[in-house]
Amino acid sequence: MTTSPQLQLRQRLESLRAAGVEFLPRTLPLPTPVAIAAPRSLPTKAVEPVAAPIDTRRVALDLLAKEIASCNLCPELFATRTQTVFGTGPLDADICFIGEAPAADEDRHGTPFAGVVGQLLDKILAKCGLRREDVYLLNILKCRPPGNRLPEPIECMNCEPFLLRQLDLIRPKVICCLGAVAARYLLKASVNETPLRGASYMAYGVPVVCTYHPLYLLELTGEAEARAKWECWDDMKMVLRKARRPVPGE
Ligand code: URA
Repeated sequence: MTTSPQLQLRQRLESLRAAGVEFLPRTLPLPTPVAIAAPRSLPTKAVEPVAAPIDTRRVALDLLAKEIASCNLCPELFATRTQTVFGTGPLDADICFIGEAPAADEDRHGTPFAGVVGQLLDKILAKCGLRREDVYLLNILKCRPPGNRLPEPIECMNCEPFLLRQLDLIRPKVICCLGAVAARYLLKASVNETPLRGASYMAYGVPVVCTYHPLYLLELTGEAEARAKWECWDDMKMVLRKARRPVPGE
């Protein structure tokens, strides 16, 4: 009887784990993230991504999701979550959107952007000529902070290795940070940084564009809402260009 390479790899990884091997060395070490002092002076040239075969990455991503599901590094999040929220989308997605953390709907469904905030994200994607199924969605934190409070820095630090391994497996052409929390933690920008949107950056060899969080857009009204939505569209055009996708209307 012959077994598929995917099954062979899964069996090999399971036998390593049974033997007590929890982590395998990376073939491609992740570079240290760029520390941002002045966002506009960051290098903008992307390092061409080199990824392992898709089947290997799929198995590794499944294993990572299982590892995250049993994580108990943040006692309060572990005690209050319904489940962890890993991420959704095709493994070979060109574009990755990173939000802040699951809220109540996401905690219940187990998928990012499952509620009303996600509905606005779907509209933004539709304006870009994209469906949710075309992009990869994930969050800085994989657990819901109780009461939808802001993530604590220690919680983001605990979750960061998971996020980086996830991004290393997906290898998008561009990352779009939704909101200040995602932007600050991915780009290591200081809390007092001027808003990061409107420019592009590099993190881990991947171009990064920052824009407003859809929840923030939902809270605006009148002129402020119209202006922010135009700015968000400008950011999305930058995302599409970096992903080498057509920009609707151009
Ligand atoms: N839902 C998410 O998955 N992430 C957010 O940042 C907000 C709502």
